[in-house]
Amino acid sequence: MQLIRPIFVTGACSGIGLALCQRLESAGSHVVSIDINDRSSELHSLDHWRCDLSDPTSVDTLIADLESCYDLTLAGSLINVAGVPGTIASASVIEVNTLAVRKLSRTFASWLPPGSSIVNVGSISGNGWQERIEAHKEFLALSDEDARAWWFDRESSIGIDSYSFSKEAVIVWTMRHAGELLGTGIRCNIVSPGPVETPLLPTFRKQIGDERLNWVISHAGRPAFSDEIAQAIEWLAIGESTWVNGHHLVVDGGYTSGLLSGWLDTTNAPPKRTD
Ligand code: NAI
Repeated sequence: MQLIRPIFVTGACSGIGLALCQRLESAGSHVVSIDINDRSSELHSLDHWRCDLSDPTSVDTLIADLESCYDLTLAGSLINVAGVPGTIASASVIEVNTLAVRKLSRTFASWLPPGSSIVNVGSISGNGWQERIEAHKEFLALSDEDARAWWFDRESSIGIDSYSFSKEAVIVWTMRHAGELLGTGIRCNIVSPGPVETPLLPTFRKQIGDERLNWVISHAGRPAFSDEIAQAIEWLAIGESTWVNGHHLVVDGGYTSGLLSGWLDTTNAPPKRTD
């Protein structure tokens, strides 16, 4: 049993997760990284665990291993960064981006001490969550098994792609989980990035089309650097944010503010690719 106050980060081997681990490590935190891949040479976390978050058995094994190796009542934070694009099988998208986040969050919440924090990573692709709030409430009330069946039944009629649905759902989940955790002293927040210069970005080009992505990027002038997203996550996880709870923090250089307040002219916006 190791008596330390570790921070657990999924999706740690690349992009935003890697930048976050590097930032946390240089601030002196003990990082326990989790990823489907082996630890990369740039990642210097205290411990590294391999887990395929699209496989529920692998997630259960990870949970059992973590419980036996750490005193999780001393853990500092859980940060769910891992995510997969809508170019892979939709069942895996829902599994990694929503159901694994929910399972890890629920499990960690039963261990974490007061003053700790859970941070999830959404996306501006999930900005439309309010349009489907009733569907998300219904989906999130189900067990994992029933939620998979729910998605399978509605995928073709829900009117939104699997990636956007999974990110909307994880935003709603985070807000609702913050409510469930009231009184425990554990906060739960979500950061939603706009386009970020990571290995995932080319898959978004494929998913929504070059023209659409370039149009989105053009308003802030460039994609974010991974560290610019990591800064916001770090603040919510271990920074001076003690009264910020259930918050959906969009980190996109201003793009969403333009959509919401109307300074961004969408008249000639290229449509999202849907094939
Ligand atoms: P990335 O591809 O660079 O990193 C994702 C990490 O998750 C990788 O280390 C990968 O090995 C890991 N991972 C993938 N599938 C996994 C699985 N089944 N089990 C365990 N680990 C797995 O991507 P990036 O850009 O750093 O993405 C991080 C998060 O940010 C994701 O949740 C993504 O949806 C979100 N995001 C990214 C944006 C972007 O433009 N890059 C925009 C909006 C949101």
